[in-house]
Amino acid sequence: MATAILGLQWGDEGKGKITHLLARRADMVVRFNGGPNAGHTVIDRGKKFGTHLIPAGAFYPDTMSVLAGGVVIDLSILREEIDAIAEHVGYSPDVYVAENAHLILPYHRLLEELEGSGSRFGTTRRGIGPAYRDKAMHIGVRAGDLLRPDVLQQRLQWRIDLLQRMWPDVTEVQAFRAEELAANAIEQAQPILESIGDASERIQAALRAERNVLFEGAQGALLDVDHGSYPFVTSSPTTFAGLGQSIGIPVPDVEERLGIAKAYTTRVGAGPFPTELSDEIGERLQQAGGEYGVTTGRPRRCGWLDGVALRYAVRVNGATAIALTKLDVLGGFDSLRICTGYELDGRVVERFPLSGEVVNRCRPIYEDVAGWNDETMDTVRRFENLPAAAKAYVDRVEAIAGVPVSIVSIGPAPEQTIMRSL
Ligand code: GDP
Ligand code: IMO
Ligand code: MG
Repeated sequence: MATAILGLQWGDEGKGKITHLLARRADMVVRFNGGPNAGHTVIDRGKKFGTHLIPAGAFYPDTMSVLAGGVVIDLSILREEIDAIAEHVGYSPDVYVAENAHLILPYHRLLEELEGSGSRFGTTRRGIGPAYRDKAMHIGVRAGDLLRPDVLQQRLQWRIDLLQRMWPDVTEVQAFRAEELAANAIEQAQPILESIGDASERIQAALRAERNVLFEGAQGALLDVDHGSYPFVTSSPTTFAGLGQSIGIPVPDVEERLGIAKAYTTRVGAGPFPTELSDEIGERLQQAGGEYGVTTGRPRRCGWLDGVALRYAVRVNGATAIALTKLDVLGGFDSLRICTGYELDGRVVERFPLSGEVVNRCRPIYEDVAGWNDETMDTVRRFENLPAAAKAYVDRVEAIAGVPVSIVSIGPAPEQTIMRSL
């Protein structure tokens, strides 16, 4: 049984909570896209973690965590996470790293600053774009290179030569030395050095043996480099289509593709956001939902649920069901709104446009739905016991998205979850 956890919005839907919850029953948890731009909140035995790279499987003793080939890895961040989790759980988590996963090196972050994509696109400034670009330009450095120090140093030398020719006047660029970068990388990689290899083969073997495999997606469909609101996107695939490429299995047998959606919408960083609320309602959602980025601490922009974007994200992911999170945050409003269409140049559109600039010109068309007021909602464990208007809201989400809502999350803790049909 394999399940993929996929963000259906602009990230931060609560993937970390749901993955951690389902990982309890998993033999293997595979992170398959993005890098430490992700920030996944996990509450494990009462302690809160904001993980950037390490899959949620690391919190369980018998679960293997895998970083697949499509991930970009910052070794210093991975090492910190392994150490923090080891201290919490009392053993060293079993982490396996794909030899073809690319590394984020110190010059990637510097390049992002020099080129200004941090301020132009509101990136997380973690070197994600430059690392994926190097991969496509065949000048990247991969996890497998850590096992061959001579190759590692040679690749770093080529990269630095090019970098220094392109930025002759930047002192920090001129200060990079291949030997030093190689030595630091090998030092930071110590905890995983013996667990670098063919991740694809391991994943395939687990799937073939019908083990319980969970794929932990990062970001959300609308940030996908091809299918998101380009150019306000991240630099890798974030949808289900990218999974096969990342793990090196052409048609992975993943029966359950669980899309995670917040009951409202948030976005961090620049880019179009048709249902954004720049008023006291937006502020209220931000406060009630604690909407601050896990990776950068930036306040998240907030707005009503965007049904057009949700329907699109379900389609591009082939999602089979939705986990609807943060329904508790919508409590206490007299009425709520759901966007069911856009107005674009005087016409009504129900399809999410592929260009960020066009999405920017879309105005939301809303449907008003009843609110509810129940301060004990986060203690409910059965769907039937939710306030009637909250149930009606979930029903409406199902009708708009066209797939069932199989999980409803009503608080950040694992037990604050209603499992409907899984
Ligand atoms: P991810 O990137 O998709 O893993 O999501 P983040 O961890 O970045 O952001 C989700 C935030 O919402 C975290 O602070 C979670 O602890 C919190 N959260 C998740 N589910 C719920 C929920 O149902 N209700 C509330 N109130 N908070 C939730
Ligand atoms: P999780 O996994 C929310 C956003 C950034 C920026 C854009 C490009 O926690 O849901 P990048 O650094 O990737 O080049 O930035 O993408 N972004 C995210 N927003 N959640 C994330 O991950 C994100 N990862 C990237 O804010 O707008
Ligand atoms: Mg996040």
